[in-house]
Amino acid sequence: MKPVIAELEQRRANARLGGGQKRIDAQHARGKLTARERIDLLMDEGSFEEFDMYVEHRCTEFGMEKSKISGDGVVTGWGTINGRVVYVFAKDFTVFGGSLSETHARKITKIQDMALKNRAPIVGLFDAGGARIQEGVDALGGYGEVFQRNVMSSGVIPQISVIMGPCAGGDVYSPAMTDFIFMVRDTSYMFVTGPDVVKTVTNETVTAEELGGAKVHTSKSSVADRAYDNDVEALLQMRRLMDFLPSNNTDGVPVLPTMDLADRVETSLDTLIPDNPNTPYDMHELIGKVVDEGDFYEIQDAFAKNILTGFARMEGHTIGIVANQPMVLAGVLDSDASRKAARFVRFCDCFDIPIVTFVDVPGFLPGTAQEYGGLIKHGAKLLFAYAEATVPKVTVITRKAYGGAYDVMSSKHIRGDVNYAWPTAEIAVMGAKGAVEIIYRSELGEPEKIAGRIKDYETRFANPFVAAERGYIDEVILPRMTRKRICRALNMLRNKTLENPWKKHDNIPL
Ligand code: HXC
Repeated sequence: MKPVIAELEQRRANARLGGGQKRIDAQHARGKLTARERIDLLMDEGSFEEFDMYVEHRCTEFGMEKSKISGDGVVTGWGTINGRVVYVFAKDFTVFGGSLSETHARKITKIQDMALKNRAPIVGLFDAGGARIQEGVDALGGYGEVFQRNVMSSGVIPQISVIMGPCAGGDVYSPAMTDFIFMVRDTSYMFVTGPDVVKTVTNETVTAEELGGAKVHTSKSSVADRAYDNDVEALLQMRRLMDFLPSNNTDGVPVLPTMDLADRVETSLDTLIPDNPNTPYDMHELIGKVVDEGDFYEIQDAFAKNILTGFARMEGHTIGIVANQPMVLAGVLDSDASRKAARFVRFCDCFDIPIVTFVDVPGFLPGTAQEYGGLIKHGAKLLFAYAEATVPKVTVITRKAYGGAYDVMSSKHIRGDVNYAWPTAEIAVMGAKGAVEIIYRSELGEPEKIAGRIKDYETRFANPFVAAERGYIDEVILPRMTRKRICRALNMLRNKTLENPWKKHDNIPL
């Protein structure tokens, strides 16, 4: 072997060892993979090309000039996921705890710039101790450069963050500005300030897990979109997710081959809705029976479970699904559900993903907790998101569509393209009992009379035909034909062109 080639191999081998075998062993002992092992699992075999492997920091404070490690705590490059180009950076916890220095930040921003210029998604794998403490303001400046690029890329290319270890201080805000955050249970946590600072400032005693573990962020704060049991599962699920996503905001959705027939009839859907309008049923069952091969990638599955959001395919084309879930709080819209669905609708609209909405909603949740918590503003987010969306919008009302929630859930009035209802749909200002108790208040002491009034109200309004007579519903369809009708509608809408008036940007009620 020529000496220069041997030297290259030696340098590569050194760089690949990161912070050394001892730290790699410690990483494994905690149930975590190393940065390069993670990238190998995420990318197609042999497709990853690493950049800036030999970059070192330039810090001379605190004796840092004596400890330099090739790569400087982050592995960056590009490769493919199921054949499509994806850029990636993975924090290497074995090198200075994955902390961010000026040069470390430069490696990330180089990849961010390339991803944006070449219009391909970027995935960040986080496992780090925040700003490189020895560097001070250079590290802060580095974070700022990363943040700015996150914002410029937002809505142009998908940006995905996976938290696979500590993610604290300056490290949290870059993921927070990406499209989705995923976490690994038990080994990852995210917080702005850690337990020690919390204790000093607020006198609260809290563990890292209680403060910012996967459970907290997927079910309470909604900062994270999903959690997985370990590194391997998380990375394999990222490969699955990427298959649903377009590469950028102009390419259109990927199309995967499917064996599922577009005109598949699902007779069991005819009996999905229980006889009693107050008995719940599982909206997952409807989604599973309608979409290609029952494959539904749910986003925020542990938060605001009264609404479901996620990706699926119809005839191989990606769609976004939003559906009220009657199993939880009767599918009511509250602040959390509205925020969750609004963000999802806006993601779909950014990336040209058609939205299919299944509606069974008794209205907005009443109460002081909701009103004090800003239900008006949060509900408006969802209304705004649907109303501004220009992607194809297909809506199916399965049962209740009451009050303002009827308008919000992708109704005809906010540019729903095709609006179907099942024969079991009830489209009204509110449920019959509530309505009668208001308009016949003087008769409340006479139960028989009230029962008659309720029956009368139900007969007149608890059906889809009043709305259909006005053209607010395009067609009342047989439940069993739902898949076929949605596939046809989406096909018909494939060349939809609709533009909102020019503006710098809108002013969604944040
Ligand atoms: C430099 C760091 C580091 C950092 C960890 N290391 N964090 N080096 N800067 N921020 C180094 C450690 O010295 C150690 O080096 C190795 O990484 C592993 O760290 P350990 O502490 O041994 O690991 P562990 O016990 O697992 O604890 C991990 C940790 C802890 C919880 C992340 O290291 C920690 O609390 N780090 C500091 C976190 C922090 O306060 N960051 C600054 C946030 S302020 P050796 O050589 O021993 O292996 C911030 C402001 C930016 O980010 C704001 C921008 C907007």
